[in-house]
Amino acid sequence: MARSTRGAMADWSWLLLLLLGLAGVLQVRGQRAPDSTGFVSIDCGLPEQAGGYADAATKLPYVPDGAFTDAGSNRDISPEYIKPSLSKRYLNVRSFPGAARGCYTLPSTVARGSKYLLRATFLYGNYDGLGKLPVFDLHLGVNFWRTVNITTADKPQMAEIIAVVPDESVQVCLVDTGSGTPFISALDLRPVRDTLYPQANATQALVLVDRSNLGVSGAALVRYPEDPYDRVWIPWSEIDSNEWAEISTPEKVKELADLRFNAPSAVMQTAIAPRNGSRSASSRTIELSWDAAPNHAYPDPEVIGIVYFAELEVVAGGAARQFEMAINGKLWSKAPFTPQHLICDAFFNSEAHRGFGGHYNITLKATANSTLLPTINAAEFFSVVSTANVATDAKDVVAMAAIKAKYEVKKNWAGDPCAPKTLVWEGLNCSYTISMPPRITRLNMSFGGLSGSIPSHFANLKAIKYLDLSYNNFTGSIPNALSELPFLVALDLTGNQLNGSIPSGLMKRIQDGSLTLRYGKNPNLCSNGSSCEPTKKKSKSMFAVYIVVPILAVVVIGALAMLLLLILRKKQGSRKGSVKPQNEASGVHSQSRNSNTHSMLQLDHRRFTYKDLQVMTNNFKTVLGRGGFGSVYDGFLADGTQVAVKLRSESSSQGIREFLTEAQTLTKIHHKNLVSMVGYCKDGEYMALVYEHMSEGNLEDKLRGKDSNSRSLTWRQRLRIAMESAQGLEYLHVACSPAFVHRDVKTSNILLNVDLEAKVADFGLLKAFNQDGDTHVSTARLVGTRGYLAPEYAAALQLTEKSDVYSFGVVLLEVITGRPPILQCPEPTNIIQWVRQHLARGNIEDVADIHIQGDYDINSVWKVADIALKCTAQAPTQRPTMTKVVAQLQECLKLEEQHID
Ligand SMILES: *[C@@H]1O[C@H](CO)[C@@H](O)[C@H](O)[C@H]1NC(C)=O
Ligand SMILES: *[C@@H]1O[C@H](CO)[C@@H](O)[C@H](O)[C@H]1NC(C)=O
Ligand SMILES: *[C@@H]1O[C@H](CO)[C@@H](O)[C@H](O)[C@H]1NC(C)=O
Ligand SMILES: *[C@@H]1O[C@H](CO)[C@@H](O)[C@H](O)[C@H]1NC(C)=O
Ligand SMILES: *[C@@H]1O[C@H](CO)[C@@H](O)[C@H](O)[C@H]1NC(C)=O
Ligand SMILES: *[C@@H]1O[C@H](CO)[C@@H](O)[C@H](O)[C@H]1NC(C)=O
Ligand SMILES: *[C@@H]1O[C@H](CO)[C@@H](O)[C@H](O)[C@H]1NC(C)=O
Ligand SMILES: *[C@@H]1O[C@H](CO)[C@@H](O)[C@H](O)[C@H]1NC(C)=O
Repeated sequence: MARSTRGAMADWSWLLLLLLGLAGVLQVRGQRAPDSTGFVSIDCGLPEQAGGYADAATKLPYVPDGAFTDAGSNRDISPEYIKPSLSKRYLNVRSFPGAARGCYTLPSTVARGSKYLLRATFLYGNYDGLGKLPVFDLHLGVNFWRTVNITTADKPQMAEIIAVVPDESVQVCLVDTGSGTPFISALDLRPVRDTLYPQANATQALVLVDRSNLGVSGAALVRYPEDPYDRVWIPWSEIDSNEWAEISTPEKVKELADLRFNAPSAVMQTAIAPRNGSRSASSRTIELSWDAAPNHAYPDPEVIGIVYFAELEVVAGGAARQFEMAINGKLWSKAPFTPQHLICDAFFNSEAHRGFGGHYNITLKATANSTLLPTINAAEFFSVVSTANVATDAKDVVAMAAIKAKYEVKKNWAGDPCAPKTLVWEGLNCSYTISMPPRITRLNMSFGGLSGSIPSHFANLKAIKYLDLSYNNFTGSIPNALSELPFLVALDLTGNQLNGSIPSGLMKRIQDGSLTLRYGKNPNLCSNGSSCEPTKKKSKSMFAVYIVVPILAVVVIGALAMLLLLILRKKQGSRKGSVKPQNEASGVHSQSRNSNTHSMLQLDHRRFTYKDLQVMTNNFKTVLGRGGFGSVYDGFLADGTQVAVKLRSESSSQGIREFLTEAQTLTKIHHKNLVSMVGYCKDGEYMALVYEHMSEGNLEDKLRGKDSNSRSLTWRQRLRIAMESAQGLEYLHVACSPAFVHRDVKTSNILLNVDLEAKVADFGLLKAFNQDGDTHVSTARLVGTRGYLAPEYAAALQLTEKSDVYSFGVVLLEVITGRPPILQCPEPTNIIQWVRQHLARGNIEDVADIHIQGDYDINSVWKVADIALKCTAQAPTQRPTMTKVVAQLQECLKLEEQHID
């Protein structure tokens, strides 16, 4: 009663029928473009010089494949598989040895967003002499299509998909899955009407499992021109004549007006019914089953079935044919169904069925009222695949295609550059945002053997952040167009033959701190913007790195804490030229009722003139400290508030707008554990930042005391300082919008006020996370301090919040041990290693600072050490978040407080 289970690839004998008597082949010349129907028919592996020809069965023109792919090689099948009956397109194949992915690019012959039927056929024929049947994957563009499991060497196998093609072209890619070399015999593209197969839409496609023409065992395939879309209707030949009777009519069958599946009349003119006296007849049912071929991408495929009916017999007076349909035992049809005479109708599901591991059966059962048994004319069965993956941004693709073509890059550069993620092009990194096209963010063509001038295509990768063209043979000058890449933060041109000077646009980007340029080992390049002589031999240093530091960084010593800020806040509103309230939002809000200009002015109140600074600092009389990029002066605002004024020493060409934007951003960040910025100055060439004054200096000095008189911090004080600075960092990471990475977390950047409350300083070097959803931020320049740098930052200039966590782990170790991040004992040793080694011996006393000996709860020290070591894990993903660190330090503090009490 049931027919045997079939999968699309389980039995290919149907196709053989097609091949019978097709030996004669017409030669057609110059068939390159798709013909008037929009069909594209490609004989894969056919040599170019052979030219095109018309297929004997369909008369459709087939063309060689050279124009559609640049990968793989042409091979002929073994002579023993060549039979007169074999279609010409199976005589040769294109195979893709050694390539992760080999692709064909087919034109979208109708319009963007149109629907197509794509069909790939495969006949192995031992073309490679290995006698091994391969298994590989097919992708349609960036989406998985199906696994191709070649099961016989001598019969063609077919893969078909009905899909909407969103772009001007579509790629069909063969993906090596490690089970043999992918190959292909032929590739067909057929436009179909958009209303055909409504289940195929922009986000899902239909993969053919089976398309059967029933009641014509032994007959030929029905396809083009009977089927205008060149679908291949395969005769159901597993006919058991004891079980089934074949019915047919010479009369044409019309389609129900609004059905729109366009099943050819030739297919509908035949049907099967249970033979009188058979088991199917006694149960009054027809049962058909399919196996939707589960694969690694779709272990439980969802399916769509379409069952076609037409009454082929004249149903006399009292007789009636009426049946119900069920799929896997579940009623499918809403009401009993009676086929109409010579009218094609169909049952189908709009929403896919799922949940049966790909095994489905359909039952047609006569109702009690029916005097006749059910009949069925044709059936199609599809599995559903998602086409929701989007291709890489079109402009990025075009740029990469041009670069690939210019340099004839082989590597694994085939298919889409960024998608799927498992097949990203070598040397590329991309950013992925849900349902947005991926963008290229990093391109490494180092040691690529590239020569000639740097082509403008690189400047078309508009989302790129890191571009590495080092150690090639590029000549000519550096294109200024690269300066227009808005997100570019690192450009490496080391080791080329470039000449001329660094173009002004790039120079500006370097100076405003938004770009790091490496250009060493270019003997003819002048580093000096104006004059153009070859650079002197550089010292041994690997790179010449331009670093122009945006001013910032605080070295604050002196007095004044929250109390003063509170006073400041109170007095503020009334004073011109003084400081705004700490709460920016409320400040602006309350004063901006009048007009926008007014609120702009309010913002500007944080801005000081150089003259203001002179007054404030008594003409820069008292130097509090000197940092790498300027000095810090003691100062007082008009209301008596003590401040620290950080003045940049050299003049700078940093754009005023950039500086103001940055400074205004900083003035908006407020947290009790972050040092507040009071205002800033950009006056001519002078730039300065004005900070709140922190009387107790920094944690580094407190731990490894500059003045030996000062009493050492107790363990409890240390713990509180650690917890508070962790809170400051957590605020930057979590509460700040956009979030910030500090970049230079270290004990000298943790400042203490008169109450020994900790505040994190120097987050002026932060850059906002990029808006494109990428999870790492780039460095505008090399920042950070030896001993604190996270390994991924040191290695790849990649900074995330987790890099801060790493540095904070080092801070915690210093807090425990009182020792510097790099110990001299006697070899320079990293504190992390040192602590790990000692703790391995199980003795916390060995590492704890001698100044706190005895005065602590040993458990809380162990716990902090444990947190520190987790923070300093090599892999960023293994480090905790600052939120977690804060929570754990709070627990430690509780432990410690219990100890003391
Ligand atoms: C390919 O087909 C063979 C024979 O049907 C089967 O044994 C094998 O498991 C299949 N391989 C894959 C990867 O599906
Ligand atoms: C495609 O069809 C599926 C199933 O009906 C539906 O969930 C999905 O939203 C459709 N997609 C589009 C773009 O219409
Ligand atoms: C079954 O038998 C009836 C009556 O004998 C006959 O009319 C009908 O055509 C037969 N059906 C088939 C499918 O053989
Ligand atoms: C058809 O599917 C139903 C539900 O999965 C199952 O109970 C039944 O045995 C199946 N019939 C056949 C012949 O596989
Ligand atoms: C079957 O026939 C009876 C009597 O003619 C009728 O009342 C009933 O609605 C019919 N059932 C169906 C499902 O057509
Ligand atoms: C960037 O791509 C390289 C391969 O080209 C890969 O090894 C590396 O892990 C990628 N980096 C990121 C952050 O994805
Ligand atoms: C860039 O590519 C070169 C050569 O393939 C490689 O040596 C280098 O490590 C790569 N750089 C990065 C940052 O991945
Ligand atoms: C650059 O060119 C020189 C000679 O033109 C050649 O010797 C050298 O190998 C090339 N270097 C690279 C990295 O391709």
